[in-house]
Amino acid sequence: MSLDSTLAAEYPAHIAEVSKRATVALERGGFDHLVIPSGVLRYQVFDDRDYAFAVNPNFKYWVPITNAPSSWIVFTPGSKPKLIFMQPHDYWHSVPQDPSGYWVDQFDIVIIREADEALKHLPSSGKLAILGEENSALGSFVPNNPAPVLDYLDYHRHSKTPYEITMMREATRIGVLGHLAAEKAFREGKSEFAIHLAYQEATQQEPFDLPYMNIIGLNENGAVLHYTNRARTAPPKLLSFLIDAGASFGGYASDITRTYSYVQDEFQAMVDAVDKAELELCAMVVPGVDYKEIHMATHMEMSQILNDFGVITCSPEAALAGRISNAFFPHGIGHPIGLQVHDVAGFHAADTGGRIERPVGQPYLRLTRELMENSVVTIEPGIYFIQMLLDEVRATDATKDVNWDRVAEFMPYGGIRIEDNVVARSSSAPLNLTREEFAKARS
Ligand code: GLY
Ligand code: MN
Ligand code: MN
Repeated sequence: MSLDSTLAAEYPAHIAEVSKRATVALERGGFDHLVIPSGVLRYQVFDDRDYAFAVNPNFKYWVPITNAPSSWIVFTPGSKPKLIFMQPHDYWHSVPQDPSGYWVDQFDIVIIREADEALKHLPSSGKLAILGEENSALGSFVPNNPAPVLDYLDYHRHSKTPYEITMMREATRIGVLGHLAAEKAFREGKSEFAIHLAYQEATQQEPFDLPYMNIIGLNENGAVLHYTNRARTAPPKLLSFLIDAGASFGGYASDITRTYSYVQDEFQAMVDAVDKAELELCAMVVPGVDYKEIHMATHMEMSQILNDFGVITCSPEAALAGRISNAFFPHGIGHPIGLQVHDVAGFHAADTGGRIERPVGQPYLRLTRELMENSVVTIEPGIYFIQMLLDEVRATDATKDVNWDRVAEFMPYGGIRIEDNVVARSSSAPLNLTREEFAKARS
C-alpha cells in the first residue's frame, strides 16, 4: 500500500481518537470549546525579517500542516472539527497551498485572507480552552492554557495512534537516507560542513524543516553533546564520526544517532559494544516498564563496557556510586518523541498532573513515567570522553578506579552515541522504527 493510502486509511481513527481525548480534556476543565491557534510569525528585532515559523504542536496534532501561521482549529464536542485556514493574498511570499489530501474530509474548512477574519469564525459563546502562545492572542481570544486540559492532552499524547506511528516511520525513513549519505561523505574524508550538506541533499530537508539542528562531529567533537559548529575543513587525521540527525514528516520527528570509527580499531569495537547494549535496552521498551529503570540499567551497561575495555577498574555498581558512570554517560537514556523531538509530559504522574521526580543524581533524564501502549521513546546510550567531567572525577577518590592512560587513548575519538526510536507494544516485541528503516534502506 502506498504511504498516502495508508495515511488515508489510518487518519479517520486518529482524528476520532484526538477528538475523544479533547472531549474528556474539556470536561475535566469545564470548557465548551477547544481553540488552537497555529501561531504567528515572529520578526527579528528592529527588522522585517521573520524567523522560521514553528507551528503550535497542539495544532499539528490535528492536521499535518506546519506552514500556515494565523490559522486556527476549533473543536466542540459532538461536532466536526473546524479549520480556519489562513491563506493570505501576498505576492511577496509563497502562501500555503489549498488544503488537500487524505485529511480534509474530516474538517469543516473556512479560508481567510487576513488574520482578523478569524474573529468571525471563532466561537461566539461558551467557555473556551485556548491552547497556544501569548502572542497568538486575537481580540478577546487570548490563550489561557488551562492546566486540566493540557495535563490530560499532554499525558495521553505519549500513546501514539497507528497514523502517528506511520508518520514517524516516514520521518525515520527520510532521516535514514541522510544518515547513509553522511556515512559515505565521512568515508570520503569530507568536512563536518560537507557531511551536513550531504545529509540535507539526501533528505531534501531545509535546516528549518529538521526537528533539531544536525549534530555532526568528527574526532573529539563527538564529545560535545549538542555540537553544531561544523568545521569547514576536515581534520588532518580522521578517527571517528558521531552524527545525531533526524527528519520531519507532516510535523512528526525522528531522532537518530550513529557513531563510526574510520578504521576497524578498538574504538570501533567499543562502538559495537555500545550498539549491542543499545539493542538490549531497546528490548526493555515495553508497556508498564518504568523508564527510570532503563536509564539506571544503562549506567550498568555502559560501566561494564568501560570495564571490559580497561577504562575503569571497578564494578558497574561502584562506578555509579563514585559518580564515574555519570562522567562517561552524562545525559538521560532518552525521551518521549512525536510532534516534538523532546515530546511533552515526560514527568507527569497522571493525566490530572503531578510530577514524578528524577532519580537522585540524574539531573538530565527527561522521562520518568511508566511506558504506555504505543509510547514512542528514544533509546540513546553513550560513552564520552569529556575533559571537564573527567577532571571532576580526577579530583575525587574515584580517580583510583580510572585507568587514565586508557582515557588518554580514547580521548581523541570524542564519544559514542547510538540512538533509535522505539514503540512500546504489549502484543509483540518493541517496534524499532530506526533499525527497521536502516535494514530496508540497506537491502
Ligand atoms: N538530538 C537531540 C537528542 O537526542 O535528544
Ligand atoms: Mn538525538
Ligand atoms: Mn534524542
